Amino acid sequence: MSVHAQQPAKITVRSLQASKQAGDKIACLTAYDASFAHVLDRAGVDLVLVGDSLGMVVQGQQTTLSVSVADMLYHCKAVSRGLSRSMLMADMPFLSYTSPQQALQHAGHFMKQANAQMVKLEGGAEQAEIVASLARNGIPVCAHLGLQPQRVHKLGGYYVQGREQAAAEAMLREAQQLEQAGADLILLECVPASLAEAITRALYIPVIGIGAGAGCDGQILVLYDILGISMGRIPKFSQDFLAETGSVEAAVKAYVEAVKNGTFPGTQHVFS
Ligand code: KIV
Repeated sequence: MSVHAQQPAKITVRSLQASKQAGDKIACLTAYDASFAHVLDRAGVDLVLVGDSLGMVVQGQQTTLSVSVADMLYHCKAVSRGLSRSMLMADMPFLSYTSPQQALQHAGHFMKQANAQMVKLEGGAEQAEIVASLARNGIPVCAHLGLQPQRVHKLGGYYVQGREQAAAEAMLREAQQLEQAGADLILLECVPASLAEAITRALYIPVIGIGAGAGCDGQILVLYDILGISMGRIPKFSQDFLAETGSVEAAVKAYVEAVKNGTFPGTQHVFS
């Protein structure tokens, strides 16, 4: 028997797609270093995001805006060394994808230097050209809709998005345009649960949510929130799994299990 036969199969865009078709929930978390990445990988997390949330939770900044491509590359490289099964997704930081050429150059660094299997960028239909260019060049893309923390100053704060009917219809349309442009995954942040469910049903590609209810194909949370490590309050849409379990490994396993069996998120984590 080959050694490879004993390794759990690596998560890919195809297996994420298959999970959606089969109705199997996709469990995702952020990580920023190799040791936590290893714990997540062993606990069955399907997708690990090196999020630009590291600006806040690791660097102690007020927003994600100051995070650089160099910061992201440093943390992605570290996380990639801790993973064997989980997919690695790299967040494109603020102003690192203002043109197709710039996006391609920076996404290329994540793929070539840090073993990322997918990049994530914030924005709606205005990003369709960039998504199409990345897709044409063989780079899987996750498009982040709903609350986009990189636009915090334009939005005037961190608010639930898509509550008004016109905004909800626009978000659905934009998600469809991004899928048509070649996105492989959509992330919805802080969106009413009914809208997130409608978008999830309308799309062929998987949709993962954070503060977007149980109707998505999967869930993602910031690792430090599920471990109860927070400089402020734990967000309404998150849960301290460490308090319930007593060890980091058990907390991550409990989160994965709760996402897979549909008990997380519960009604208390959801926006209407
Ligand atoms: O940067 C990040 O951690 C994110 C989360 C919203 C998933 O994008």
